[in-house]
Amino acid sequence: MITDLQHENRKAMTMNSGGVSPATIVEEVVRGYDIIGDVAIVKIAKESRWDTEVVGRAFRKTRPYLRLVARRVGDCKGEFRLMPLERIAGSGDFTTLHKEYGLRLHVDPSRVYYSPRSGAERFRLAGLVGGKERVLVMFSGIAPLPLMIARYSDAAQIIGIEKNPYAHQLALKNLRANAYIDTIRVYEGDVAQRMPELNGGFDRIVMPLPVSAADYLGLALELLRPGGWLHYYDFCEKGKFKGAEAAVSAACTRMGRKLASSTVHACGHVSVHKYRACVDAVIE
Ligand SMILES: C[S@@+](CC[C@H](N)C(=O)[O-])C[C@H]1O[C@@H](n2cnc3c(N)ncnc32)[C@H](O)[C@@H]1O
Repeated sequence: MITDLQHENRKAMTMNSGGVSPATIVEEVVRGYDIIGDVAIVKIAKESRWDTEVVGRAFRKTRPYLRLVARRVGDCKGEFRLMPLERIAGSGDFTTLHKEYGLRLHVDPSRVYYSPRSGAERFRLAGLVGGKERVLVMFSGIAPLPLMIARYSDAAQIIGIEKNPYAHQLALKNLRANAYIDTIRVYEGDVAQRMPELNGGFDRIVMPLPVSAADYLGLALELLRPGGWLHYYDFCEKGKFKGAEAAVSAACTRMGRKLASSTVHACGHVSVHKYRACVDAVIE
């Protein structure tokens, strides 16, 4: 039986670190984290014996450059793919300045989608872009991919389309923050409405919206020139990458186009057996 005194002692232990070092607490219950500028987003073990504020303070102590620590309390959801966050330590709002491959990105992870984990994939993609290309980035968010392509390729023009009005505002701010780049145009709105307003013949179209990008394949194929590149993202179970290629192939058949060649590139883990994958396809 637990006495009142023991109960009070246990409660005090979860509210305070009880003499346990910050590094030990972090190692014990933090299951993963992302750092965006001076904001950290941590995942805390369900069975944690510590109060979340204690974990937040411990995390900040182990990384003194952090201003704010938030806890991830669910998966990205809704059409804007927002991550539910709960502030657990530090001060100020979620707005921060993050550096990715030398680019300056203003981010508010509580109001827009942005993942620092995709930086290497954006860099890979920029490396595929040839000189003088016209590139369309559907679902462009705060514009990290348009900026990466502009910075690390000789593309002639990059267009981005984003529906979340606040992400679009930050995209405009990010273009100003990297003002030496002048080949990007970003538009606010639903791709289904904005894309028919654009001139077609794009050399390359990127679709970074896993799960629902399939709904927009027809729209993308309308604007892609014969012989152009399509980069289609999806979440795939281990060993089932062919399903993503099949979705592209089926859309080609529907639209009277031909999938000339394709490869699939795994570019991140979503869970133990699930990957974020990109189909790099040439479409005749
Ligand atoms: C997975 S996020 C990727 C954002 C960005 N490309 C990045 O890598 O940071 C997908 C984005 O698509 C936007 N979105 C969802 N549906 C859309 C639509 N129908 N038209 C335009 N944007 C859309 C969301 O608001 C979100 O910012």
